Amino acid sequence: MSVPTPDRPFYRAHVFVCTNVRPPGHKRGCCAEKGAERLRNYMKVRARELGLADTRINLAGCLDRCELGPCLVVYPDGIWYRYGNEADIDEILERHLVEGAPVERLMLHPDQMPPDA
Ligand code: FES
Repeated sequence: MSVPTPDRPFYRAHVFVCTNVRPPGHKRGCCAEKGAERLRNYMKVRARELGLADTRINLAGCLDRCELGPCLVVYPDGIWYRYGNEADIDEILERHLVEGAPVERLMLHPDQMPPDA
């Protein structure tokens, strides 16, 4: 049985931004304590201003790379980023999502582990 495939996806890209919250002092930390919710909201506004109507900026729960966060992942590309401020978010939006060129300096690689792992 074959599954019908659409001519094009409903969204060209999804960005999943971890905004998970953990109690203060948790050994893994969390993205929320590093400003993730504020920066996700900023990203959503900036994506709209850039006219990225085909890109969805989603809240996400823990993506299990807590120690490396705050982090987000862009699908369908499967590219992960660690960001720290509005300038990083702007660069991800403008370079990756508008121009199609991933931002190497902010990328988390598949084999990248926390420093003490
Ligand atoms: S708390 Fe964000 S990846 Fe786990």
